[in-house]
Amino acid sequence: MMRTIARYGARHVRGSMPAAIKAVLRGDGVRGSSIQQFEKRFADYHGLHHAISVSYGRMAFYYILKSLDLPPDSEIIFPALTFWVVPEMARVLGFRPKFVDIDPETLNIDPVRVEAAITPKTRAIVPTHLYGQPCDMEPIMAAARAHGLLVIEDCAHALGAAYKGRKVGTFGNASFFSFQMLKPLNTYGGGMALTNDAALAARVRRLSEAEEWPEAKNVFKKILLGNLQRKLIGPYGFTFTMFLAFYIASFFGDYDLSRYLWEKIRPLDPLPDSYRRRYTNAQAMIGLEMLKNIDAFNALNRAHAKRVTAGLSGVDGVRPPAELSQTESVYYQYCIRAADPDRLKHRAIRAGVDVEIMHVDICNVLELFERFKTDCPVAEATEHTLQLPVYASLTDKDLDRIINVIRNACRVDSPVEEKRTYPA
Ligand SMILES: Cc1ncc(COP(=O)(O)O)c(C=O)c1O
Repeated sequence: MMRTIARYGARHVRGSMPAAIKAVLRGDGVRGSSIQQFEKRFADYHGLHHAISVSYGRMAFYYILKSLDLPPDSEIIFPALTFWVVPEMARVLGFRPKFVDIDPETLNIDPVRVEAAITPKTRAIVPTHLYGQPCDMEPIMAAARAHGLLVIEDCAHALGAAYKGRKVGTFGNASFFSFQMLKPLNTYGGGMALTNDAALAARVRRLSEAEEWPEAKNVFKKILLGNLQRKLIGPYGFTFTMFLAFYIASFFGDYDLSRYLWEKIRPLDPLPDSYRRRYTNAQAMIGLEMLKNIDAFNALNRAHAKRVTAGLSGVDGVRPPAELSQTESVYYQYCIRAADPDRLKHRAIRAGVDVEIMHVDICNVLELFERFKTDCPVAEATEHTLQLPVYASLTDKDLDRIINVIRNACRVDSPVEEKRTYPA
């Protein structure tokens, strides 16, 4: 049986899971001093004053937005390409998401289009640092200043990324982070709100601390189940589980099993009960260990991305990702543009390498946001984008195999097969 490479690799610091489980068994898994320590270190890492830990990244955004006391029907600007739950939180709070098209090279919100989308009802801009690549923050902040708008940065993918030497999450009025298992800092769920505004921080804290503590048995389950999932996407777990399903599906044309991996797109009002819980001590213990290692993890992702970019240079039919100058991406995902992404995906999985067609949402065309539809042709053309694995636990040998599989998959092997080009 061949060794396979899964599309995701969850980050993990050895020893942190047993310590967290022991804390739960001792009775310190829910409340405890690690929560405050983690918040303090997280704020210090960014050079800011206030970090508030919460149940999910999305809830950090929800509490921030709720704390800002904006008039009902305010317009909030989002990139068309982002995780649907984030604009949905704005809709749930009675605001109007306004989707703005993206830059075709970086896949991040296009600052020129941001300026053009501002109306007298606009109150805030929510740039997503998509896949770990910092947005072009200077023109975004300039537009916000010129029109008196708030900026809330979505850093779910980008903890540790930098723009012109400054960490993302420190430009706007506030920012939020996700600690879901696949994110740069994994505590098997959770999130953080970050700000330098003491009054805003106090309001966010009041809202988050009004939620209930989860039961210890649920914390135990969350950490154990998270670990099991992490092992299932590891080399051996993946080979004997999901790989077989993806391999078989690759012979059935466009049948895409990936859609079953993600949350169903649906209205989120009223908010699910699981969102309305507090962040726990056991997770904060894991978070403290993760934070000590975050720069080393990110450096590995960056080095891996560099190796893959070099390996794919000059290959017909794929274009490696572009980085804005003076930015440091953390490559939460590494995206190539492919002439024929479906063919590449099928060929790669048959060679044991699991790659994924871009999985974030083209929000402006979702039924959920039908009332807020805008034209975003660049975001709508992103089906040509393919995500290749570059995560920290891969070895150089794995990366070379990924490069070779993609190079081979790009070969036009039949004289009658049409050679396609990707859109400009
Ligand atoms: C871009 C983006 N923002 C926000 C979130 C929300 O994070 P959480 O799942 O912790 O609520 C995610 C989660 O995947 C995301 O991808």
